[in-house]
Amino acid sequence: MIDELDFRKSWSFFPTGVSVLAVKNQNDIIQGMTASSVMSISLNPPIIMVSVGVERSIIKNLKTSEFISVSLLSKNQADIANYFSRPHNPDNNFFYNKENCFYIKECLGYFLCKKNDFIKIGDHIVYFLEVEKFEFQDIEPLVWYKGNFENSL
Ligand SMILES: Cc1cc2nc3c(=O)[nH]c(=O)nc-3n(C[C@H](O)[C@H](O)[C@H](O)COP(=O)(O)O)c2cc1C
Repeated sequence: MIDELDFRKSWSFFPTGVSVLAVKNQNDIIQGMTASSVMSISLNPPIIMVSVGVERSIIKNLKTSEFISVSLLSKNQADIANYFSRPHNPDNNFFYNKENCFYIKECLGYFLCKKNDFIKIGDHIVYFLEVEKFEFQDIEPLVWYKGNFENSL
């Protein structure tokens, strides 16, 4: 029998970057969620993947929204990662937001996407997102390791 906490702990030894997954709700307010289960899947077409727990509040808007953005956080954005990993009032202040393009300001890079496919697996839904637009800069990433932000300022 696999112990859930032990399983989670084992993966905490594997460092990852940190992103904020974001969608717009019906009132055009952006809802964000901190996510580390993100990876690049396909180059042609350009597809990335993000895994979201079925109980996360962002799921409802993920189902309906046309555009989804994934912002990769830089090393001095641990406060933003913390903010979007806890219950909060949706707040557009953290985001660049023009027409259909929205992403965390001054992040390392962002991917503006449309949904391509999804699969429910266990207690998560894995979304495959097709990238429509992206930008990035060569700055240091925020790293999640052993339950902490390894290199936040
Ligand atoms: C560093 C970090 C990475 C996370 N990665 C994910 C993830 O990939 N998928 C996910 O569903 N939740 C992830 N979470 C948890 C969610 O951010 C958190 O449970 C969520 O924001 C809670 O929002 P809610 O109460 O509105 O559902 C992560 C949390 C942290 C601190």
